[in-house]
Amino acid sequence: MKIPLCKTSLDTKESRAIAKVLKSGWLTDGPMNKRFEEAFAKYIGVKRALTLNSCTTALQLAIEASNITGEVILPSFTFVASANAVVRGGATPVFADIEYDSCNIDPEDIERKITPRTQAIMVVHFAGQSCRMDKIIKLAAKHKLKIIEDSAEAIGATYNNQKTGSFSTGCFSFFPTKNLTTGEGGMLTTNNESFADKIKTLAAHGIAKKTTGCQPEADPWHREAAYAGYNFRMSSILAALGVEQLKKLDRMNRQRREHAAYLNKKLNFDEIDLPVELKGCRHVYQMYTIKIKRIPRRDFVLGLRKMGIMASVHFTPPVHLQEYYANKYKYSLNDLPVTKRVTDSIVTLPMYPGLVKKELDYIVNSVTKILHKLNRRQI
Ligand SMILES: Cc1ncc(COP(=O)(O)O)c(C=O)c1O
Repeated sequence: MKIPLCKTSLDTKESRAIAKVLKSGWLTDGPMNKRFEEAFAKYIGVKRALTLNSCTTALQLAIEASNITGEVILPSFTFVASANAVVRGGATPVFADIEYDSCNIDPEDIERKITPRTQAIMVVHFAGQSCRMDKIIKLAAKHKLKIIEDSAEAIGATYNNQKTGSFSTGCFSFFPTKNLTTGEGGMLTTNNESFADKIKTLAAHGIAKKTTGCQPEADPWHREAAYAGYNFRMSSILAALGVEQLKKLDRMNRQRREHAAYLNKKLNFDEIDLPVELKGCRHVYQMYTIKIKRIPRRDFVLGLRKMGIMASVHFTPPVHLQEYYANKYKYSLNDLPVTKRVTDSIVTLPMYPGLVKKELDYIVNSVTKILHKLNRRQI
């Protein structure tokens, strides 16, 4: 049996929606984007949602449009895009450690890392579970810091019944491995109308829809840049995909949760620390990650792959030890001890809504077999 790490849930509804856009003749940012943005804003519980071409550009714009040029505290245990966006947005990343159970940023270590140069905290909701937002919001208020949420991996996750991405500026990814996909794509969410307008303008060459300094009736062709902007727009074709995917999101997340509950029940081994759903959190399992103890992780992952299960590792190496960051910011191996412990032991098992019982059982049996084999070898 072959089980991929992830698989999209797309059907004729998405195909039909795309065909309709193609026929409409309007392919770039347009009415379909507006539909996706309004539906997404309603779903997350914010005033505005803005379609963009990726989560990375959403994060970069969040930094740049907030005029953050000092330090941004974020976890090193994340996909490198979170930190790249800080650098590209014009700020300096400062890495904080994580908590072992959730693998999310540790509020106590955030506080230790705050300096007079700190301007923002970028939280990353790892693998589908929210960070401890109550503590982080208190910290940010105490030190007058902005919060940016990298919610790439947590579309639909909640903390105390509030969706991630609604606590401050939220940034989402629609990459194919995520809970909702448009192939490539992203969304920025905010309750701040003028900030939203600035983001939308920056993402479209710096040209605001309402041009300044001229009468549109007199010169309707007039366009001028208010900023040296980018082209970070999402096409209508992808927005149509997003509209259809959003309708299924709650069902897909429920399926992920059911699969995770099944695996949690069956993978009860001394050598495995299972994912932990923290109090107040609704985990949406963008990834199903376990931590391996006492046996070699490499042999465990490669053994599963030999049996057709595309297990993997997210994330290693941690960002602070990756070439650019280690050279530029002079971090060393033992700077973030919990991050080190987690990156050395974490394993990602397949997780997607369409998994069936036969496949889940195959994963369980294969893990059981490989643990047996590796344990025997150790004796
Ligand atoms: C935590 C995190 N941040 C950012 C990104 C980047 O998302 P995108 O590929 O949409 O730019 C990802 C996706 O892989 C991610 O997992």
